[in-house]
Amino acid sequence: MQGKTSVIKIDSVNPEKDKIKSAASFIKNGDVVVFPTETVYGIGANALDEEACAKIFKIKGRPSDNPLIVHVSSLEMAQEIGEIPKKYLSSIKNVWPSPITFIVKAKKKLPKSVTSGLYTVAIRMPAHPVALELIKESNVPIAAPSANPSKKPTATNANQAIKYFDGKVECIIDSGKTFFGIESTVIDLEEFKILRPGPFTSEEIEKAFGVKPKINELSKGKESTEHAISPGTKYAHYAPDTPLFLFEGGAKDFIDVIDNIEDVPEFAFIGSDESCKKISKAIGCSTVDLGSSDNIYDIAKNLYDGIILLDSMKVKFGVIESFDEKGIGLAIMNRVRKACSNKAFTNETQLFAYITSEQKDY
Ligand code: TXA
Ligand code: MG
Repeated sequence: MQGKTSVIKIDSVNPEKDKIKSAASFIKNGDVVVFPTETVYGIGANALDEEACAKIFKIKGRPSDNPLIVHVSSLEMAQEIGEIPKKYLSSIKNVWPSPITFIVKAKKKLPKSVTSGLYTVAIRMPAHPVALELIKESNVPIAAPSANPSKKPTATNANQAIKYFDGKVECIIDSGKTFFGIESTVIDLEEFKILRPGPFTSEEIEKAFGVKPKINELSKGKESTEHAISPGTKYAHYAPDTPLFLFEGGAKDFIDVIDNIEDVPEFAFIGSDESCKKISKAIGCSTVDLGSSDNIYDIAKNLYDGIILLDSMKVKFGVIESFDEKGIGLAIMNRVRKACSNKAFTNETQLFAYITSEQKDY
């Protein structure tokens, strides 16, 4: 790209028309725009413009076999690019706009860089006024993966998006912090299977569609022998530079684990407000407070910022606590397991093994 990145501040509830027009002019021009959605920030371009979409892959360092989500502002726009199965049409009408992405058969006119050559396409209508107005004003569907360099935690606020993409994209919209903080639920409508859990929970899908969605180990973020149907699920993701391990147990158990290891290198604990307080009092380590365990939505909202913060703490490793895999907790644990590269522990022997295996890098 040539020139400076334009940062446009837009009100997240009542987007200013003139500012939306300015941002949309970049999309119309075949440029790349970072914009807010209710889940996370996205890095987007005209989904019908092969060259514009190819830029996204280059900027993110994204493998070319990982297709993009196409964002639409109306059902008609969705039907122009994908074949929405008739039996699900009225349910989709009811649930959209919302943090749920549907995998359907693609219509031919989509560029190969959007679908990675698959016969399907991922479509979503975001429930964020800025995202919706941007798509409407651009008058084209917008292909947008999450706003993060490949493998890194996703930007859920404009400052982080600017850190990642200033000088790399033509425009960044600043509408503050996103609402949910983790990416949309992805569901394959052919098999009615959740490929990636998200804020639109399995329980809510069942209620809206009258069918219980299938869900596999892979979509929980665990390692699985099952074939990676959603290409993105096979890649390392959301990981900080600092080694991060998942503790499967309560705050008191963790305090015992640490008490049983001599000379533990400096580390930070990431978890709920309640666990952080107990652990900081008992061990005196640094903590990253994600919010009260009473509000699991706050934990989701602060998760990526917490993981990003770890890298600025100059500790040797981080430990993150596990959360109940109910509701949005399933999505939280999917991201947490990936951020930890599935390195989970329940006792001192396992943690000690992780610490010593990382020691060579200290
Ligand atoms: O909340 C979100 O979904 C955000 C915002 C910006 O909308 N976007 C997002 O996009 O998370 P991305 O590219 O980071 O994740 C898209 C996921 C990937 O795991 C990708 O492999 C999967 O959707 N996907 C896309 N097209 C697919 C397809 N045709 N079949 C199966 N999986 C697909
Ligand atoms: Mg992503």
